[in-house]
Amino acid sequence: MKKLLITGASGFLGGRAAAMLADRFGIVTPNHRDMDITDREAVRRFFDAVRPDLVLHGAAISDVGQCGREPEKSWRINVDGSRNVAEASGEIGAKCLLCSSDQVYAGADGIEAHREEEDVTPVPLYGREKLTAERECLAVNPDCVMMRLTWMYDVRTMVPGEKSDFFRGLLARIASGEVLRFSAHDRRGLTYVGDVVENLVPAFSIPGGVYNFGSPSTVPVGRTMFEAARTIFTVAGLDPDRIECDEESFRDAPRNLCMDPAKLFSVGIRFPETAERVGELLKAAEGMLP
Ligand SMILES: NC(=O)c1ccc[n+]([C@@H]2O[C@H](COP(=O)([O-])OP(=O)(O)OC[C@H]3O[C@@H](n4cnc5c(N)ncnc54)[C@H](OP(=O)(O)O)[C@@H]3O)[C@@H](O)[C@H]2O)c1
Repeated sequence: MKKLLITGASGFLGGRAAAMLADRFGIVTPNHRDMDITDREAVRRFFDAVRPDLVLHGAAISDVGQCGREPEKSWRINVDGSRNVAEASGEIGAKCLLCSSDQVYAGADGIEAHREEEDVTPVPLYGREKLTAERECLAVNPDCVMMRLTWMYDVRTMVPGEKSDFFRGLLARIASGEVLRFSAHDRRGLTYVGDVVENLVPAFSIPGGVYNFGSPSTVPVGRTMFEAARTIFTVAGLDPDRIECDEESFRDAPRNLCMDPAKLFSVGIRFPETAERVGELLKAAEGMLP
């Protein structure tokens, strides 16, 4: 059995990866005390002692707002910490997957799905940190895989009090009977975390580089969150007219984080289409709906 080291295993993605992949890999989950990712020598020492075959780097300050409020700390963790993990992986020959984000595209114009080779200048600090981490990680370890993840969701809560997400938030809003409003100026991908975890396994075998890594939401032209929500309701057998159009949010600065997955497809990795997948899962959650 190959040894898989997962950083950030107390987090949303790392925790689910550790649980779902436990029957296929020998999992090692260091916490802050075991290995401070911002300490280059500590990371090297830990990697040298454990000698994993594979690495998933899920540790990060993942909250966009927190990065803006704590720029130095978040830079140290999101950029320096990622580079330390990528470098230590390269030194022992472990294949390393690192988490980037669709937020690298925040600020780009247009409604087309974004491609990896685009010249991007992300507006939020979090996006700039992720973009810098991609470049620095690949500079020290060209074999590492930088996954530009969409917003991820799950159908269940793993840890009491865990942060909510699109799907669980939507279930709660449907249950409360509140009006459901979605923006006519926001476009983004959403991916079921279970699909992300399953696709980590083939990703350990792809060439190093940057990959849009999530469900395609927008073929051929970007669908807004309003349009996506209506499609999701239709697939789930719910009344799409329950969705109201929010014309205010993002009106002054329309957002398009949608990603083109063609590069990932070319190495044999596919995700289901966003609206279809959310709709199916919503249908399956029928018992939880009023
Ligand atoms: N969730 C999403 O929808 C999403 C979307 C796009 C990209 N991403 C990216 O995907 C990755 C995983 O996201 P997530 O949602 O699983 O994040 P998360 O739930 O916020 O978990 C982050 C993890 O990082 C750990 N961590 C933070 N600072 C650390 C440090 N200095 N040393 C060691 N560990 C540290 C946390 O441990 P403690 O709790 O002990 O501090 C936690 O286990 C991140 O890189 C994130 O930016 C996530």
